[in-house]
Amino acid sequence: MWDFFTTVRHRHSIRKYQPDMPVDPTKLHAILEMACAAPSAGDLQSYRIIVVRDRAEREALVYAAHQQTFIAEAPVCLVFCADPARSETAFGERGAKLYSVQDTTIAAAYAQLAVVAAGMGSTWVGYFEENKVREALGLEPGLIPLALLSLGYPAELPEPSSRRRLDEVVTWR
Ligand SMILES: Cc1cc2nc3c(=O)[nH]c(=O)nc-3n(C[C@H](O)[C@H](O)[C@H](O)COP(=O)(O)O)c2cc1C
Repeated sequence: MWDFFTTVRHRHSIRKYQPDMPVDPTKLHAILEMACAAPSAGDLQSYRIIVVRDRAEREALVYAAHQQTFIAEAPVCLVFCADPARSETAFGERGAKLYSVQDTTIAAAYAQLAVVAAGMGSTWVGYFEENKVREALGLEPGLIPLALLSLGYPAELPEPSSRRRLDEVVTWR
């Protein structure tokens, strides 16, 4: 198993997947557990994760995400939805508007790293129409889809993407 730093360095967005390599349910379970190990405001975990394996539903997500076809090519898509009402009970408007979004995105980020540690790849998809995702999955009212993670075995090794220099993004005091 890679250490944390190696795992982070090996994470690249993967948009081509091996078609005949399904995701082992044990690995999927471990990835979901790592997502849920992320911190959350008041330990409330104000999110829901929908595990989409069904081909027709993944196709519907492609339609919702402006024809990003790799979503259907990957055998699994994890849909991370904020559950604002859950955080609102403890933290009012700040919980509903901010903490539930933070809880959800941290969980998705942990999942994305767990995917790499499990020997697979993913892409975080944010470019989609919320209502079409809602319709595609019949989401219960109140849930807000924030991120889709396509996930499977990579069929490409992308060039590492560039990053801004540290001194551009970090302010030391
Ligand atoms: C909030 C967010 C939204 C994104 N939306 C998309 C998307 O809709 N489609 C896509 O192919 N990649 C999407 N990405 C992936 C980024 O393009 C990618 O992370 C970035 O180019 C850096 O490349 P890397 O992930 O390989 O390091 C998104 C990433 C984030 C964090």
